[in-house]
Amino acid sequence: MKTEDLKKLLSEMSLEEKVMQLVQLPGSEFEADAAVTGLSERQSSDKAKSLVGSILGVWGAEKAIALQKRYIENHPHHIPLLLMLDVIHGHKTVFPCPLGQGATFDTEVARKGAEIQAKEASAEGVHVTFSPMADLVRDARWGRVVESCGEDKFLNGKMISAMVEGYQGDSLLDKEHVASCVKHFAAYGGADAGRDYNNVELSEHTLREQYLPAYEEGIKAGARLVMTSFNTLNGIPSSGNKWLMRDILRDEMGFDGVLISDWAAIAEMVKWGFAKDNAEASDLAMKAGVDIDMCTDCYSGSIEKLIADGKLSVELLDEAVMRVLTLKNDLGLFEDPYRGASVEKSKEVLLSRENREVARDAVQKSLVLLTNKENALPLSEKKIAFIGPYVDEKKIHSSWAISCDPEDNVTIKDAVCEYYGLTASSANNENGESAGDDISPKTDLDSSDKTVCIHKSASGAQVIFAKGCNMLPNGTDLGYGVYKTDDAENDKLIKEALWVAEWADEIVLCLGEEIGQSGESTSRVDITLPKPQMELFEVVSKLEKKLVTLILNGRPLDLKDIPEKSSAVLLCWRPGTEGGHGIMDVLTGKVSPSGKLPMSFPWSVGQEPLHYDHYNTGRPKPSEGASIFSSRYLDCPNEARYPFGFGLTYSSFEVSEVRLSKETLKSDGDSISASVTLKNTGKCEATETLQLYIRDMVGSRVRPVKELKGFEKVTLLPGESKEVSFEIKEDMLRFFTINNRFESEPGKFTVYIGTDSSTENGAEFELV
Ligand code: BGC
Repeated sequence: MKTEDLKKLLSEMSLEEKVMQLVQLPGSEFEADAAVTGLSERQSSDKAKSLVGSILGVWGAEKAIALQKRYIENHPHHIPLLLMLDVIHGHKTVFPCPLGQGATFDTEVARKGAEIQAKEASAEGVHVTFSPMADLVRDARWGRVVESCGEDKFLNGKMISAMVEGYQGDSLLDKEHVASCVKHFAAYGGADAGRDYNNVELSEHTLREQYLPAYEEGIKAGARLVMTSFNTLNGIPSSGNKWLMRDILRDEMGFDGVLISDWAAIAEMVKWGFAKDNAEASDLAMKAGVDIDMCTDCYSGSIEKLIADGKLSVELLDEAVMRVLTLKNDLGLFEDPYRGASVEKSKEVLLSRENREVARDAVQKSLVLLTNKENALPLSEKKIAFIGPYVDEKKIHSSWAISCDPEDNVTIKDAVCEYYGLTASSANNENGESAGDDISPKTDLDSSDKTVCIHKSASGAQVIFAKGCNMLPNGTDLGYGVYKTDDAENDKLIKEALWVAEWADEIVLCLGEEIGQSGESTSRVDITLPKPQMELFEVVSKLEKKLVTLILNGRPLDLKDIPEKSSAVLLCWRPGTEGGHGIMDVLTGKVSPSGKLPMSFPWSVGQEPLHYDHYNTGRPKPSEGASIFSSRYLDCPNEARYPFGFGLTYSSFEVSEVRLSKETLKSDGDSISASVTLKNTGKCEATETLQLYIRDMVGSRVRPVKELKGFEKVTLLPGESKEVSFEIKEDMLRFFTINNRFESEPGKFTVYIGTDSSTENGAEFELV
């Protein structure tokens, strides 16, 4: 449809029709007899349903086609519906959670993953995904760090723009793509005390330098929607923040797409104490430029009256409606309201072999090796015990992979059986060979309590699986039902684990957060592994055998003594559908791990929020000697236990000193080349990620001790070397100065190139 035709359509619509274009209802409202708490009768009425502009949470080709057909037939102007869904890290084929994708430092992983998600979701009738989440995260207590690409603005920005490009492709008329929604604008990740939905108190320069860039990258990449955030920013809720939404988002960043509220965020301005009622909240949101009200009856119940009372203008309403109609038009919905939805196409693309392969590759690249004493990994022994609640756990995606069917996920046990050629029946306890006399149990476990058995592979490897302990302590309440387990059963599992561990030469402990421990509304003040798992670890680690600990996590954790007492620790994040395969590929050495931490791992939760790009302070803690009256903790190091950017491979690398092409940089398009030679000094092929950091030594506002400005992944064979160069230009040195604008300041800078953010491998230049 041409713009004139859209305008004509708009002019023919009734006021009610227009308002309802700005309303989104949950799909559950369209299911027979469904009633969603919080929605008024007015909003759930058949009339509202026949006029509502968009729906959230419906997928499935048949369902989507039927819904659209019924809707268009009933709509006075036959305007098609928009179907939106949270496709965050996978629709059916689920990729590593965004934090895991951040660990790949690989924009192609993000792009290809998003492309596949779009392909699968569009075949199931989805038009818009509420992804990517561009929130900068520095506080591991906040559960939503799992949905972000980490603590660094530069890495975030690169991953976010790749995701937007992957979802949207070159044109939204291409039915295998979906429109992307960058969220949650703005600074949602800075929640006070890491508690979800909380206030965010930020100076303007930190907001602009640290928090806004990743959203902006998503907008520059063409994201068609932006979502407001739940938090207040310096006391003002985002959905009513005119400065943030109109001045910054629309005017400065040039965003002209659809701005949607987060779920009930407009109505929540009343609870915040920012608006006296829903009508006032709607007025504020409309004036701030929020086009769609997600899942409340604020807009549907107030806008007409606000206009009748002369508080809101029809022009403002028309502006918002036009943006929604334009998005529908750009998606080609007026010409083809069913767009990519197709049962046949769904069969062809959902969980296809190609999609799974891409997901497996992403898992391989996302795993981060924290420690590997005496080359404990790759696995080498023949008697291996896989122990822990994650050995055979299907829920290895995150709580935000909402359309994922856990049955499609490859567990660690599935992948182990496949690798060793154990058939499903031989891996079945009843049919496998009994451990019997092969094992000399040193525990008081009654032999009738043994539920495990040894599986022998054709290659002679012997494998045993045991659950080891319960995932969570009995009585844990994550908000959707109390986790009920039997403590006696847990004791039995631990005894069995010990018995199994004693038999083995090599133990792989599969531990982690439960799926519901990260995601929305899952802030934690204790970021350790659940108690039964720590008990299991204690018992097994006492045996002092080769112990490889795998951790499936949605956030940085306080790892307690796990790294000291393990031979190797491999972080696996929430790996998704191909989790088991990707993990086994790394455990067996098919590929070397190459992931790098996208967030600093603390020694203690007390260090949070923790990030590498902090200020030096006027009393930096000396690296050695007395540190009284310095900026320090009495009981904990200042530094991260594992810094941002850290991750080992199965090889070793040497980075030469930094060489600069010259020592002064002019600000007129000049550039300096900073290079190093990277050498693989180990025994296998591996991929290292070189990271470029810069420190501005003196600024009109103090500058971080380091800021990531570039990265490059390099794969080298043993003995091979490569020269790697980064180009440094003046625009990379700009920051929000005392003049309240982005500009660079002449003076000295240090360039660091290394394999993580703690590198001291630097050289100096001067900007003149
Ligand atoms: C979340 C958003 C999500 C929306 C729709 C909200 O609770 O904060 O990230 O997109 O729900 O599901």
